Amino acid sequence: MSSTVPKDVLDTARSARRVAVLTGAGMSAESGIPTFRDKDFGLWTKVDPEELATPTAWFQDPARVWAWFAWRARVVQKSFPNAGHRALATWEKRERTTLDVVTQNVDNLHERGGSRAVTHLHGSLFAYRCDTCGEPYEGDLTLPHQPVERLTPPACPRCRLGNIRPDIVWFGEPLDRGRFERAIEAVESADLVLVVGTSGMVYPAAGLPAIARGQGVPVVEINPRESDLSDTVDLRWEVSAATGLPRLVEALER
Ligand code: APR
Repeated sequence: MSSTVPKDVLDTARSARRVAVLTGAGMSAESGIPTFRDKDFGLWTKVDPEELATPTAWFQDPARVWAWFAWRARVVQKSFPNAGHRALATWEKRERTTLDVVTQNVDNLHERGGSRAVTHLHGSLFAYRCDTCGEPYEGDLTLPHQPVERLTPPACPRCRLGNIRPDIVWFGEPLDRGRFERAIEAVESADLVLVVGTSGMVYPAAGLPAIARGQGVPVVEINPRESDLSDTVDLRWEVSAATGLPRLVEALER
């Protein structure tokens, strides 16, 4: 893993004025948030996604699913943005530059790291809605201080029929159309697409780099390991997000 910015990566980034950054769980790994599929501490290796992150699981046992998501929200609350999140926020503020973050992550670390243009393709651990009437829920929530097996979700105060659920895209659910259209627009109008910390296994998010390349936009991957996208990108830098991104942004400032 080389932490010196490769010349071809730096040259591509230097000439970029409209940057789109597609991030995945690896972006938050150095903030202590487990990824989904990394063998060492991937989240899914401990829980079966079909068991907890699907509408079927929710309607079968909302208290069990709510307990897991509420705990994940608590873990994020206790975590901090890393140098990679902060580097993207610095880059976004550069003269004559726009930088759109399109993230698969449901944590709020990009925003807390200072990024302003963030699109959450898979929703957010900190947004909630009624599972029946769909009304967004802004009410109080008690997040568990320790992981618990079960936790009763709040009842919907509006329809009084449904339970409050995380506003997260579960397996088998469609992405929010508006968010995905914004993501496509970001990568199609970019002059650089950076792919950071994603295995590239989950569509349609994983299809965004190919859309960019189809428009002749250079795609650069930052990931310490190979991903399902590695064979389809223009440049790869085998480095972690919290090491690579600050070095890249520092080099741009020089
Ligand atoms: N810096 C950069 N990349 C890293 C780091 C790091 N410090 N640590 C791990 N990675 C990389 C891994 O090599 C892997 O390619 O991050 C990627 C994590 O992959 P996944 O765990 O599959 O996470 P992600 O790609 O975000 O998953 C996509 O799947 O489960 C669904 O909805 C969920 O949004 C998620 C989607």
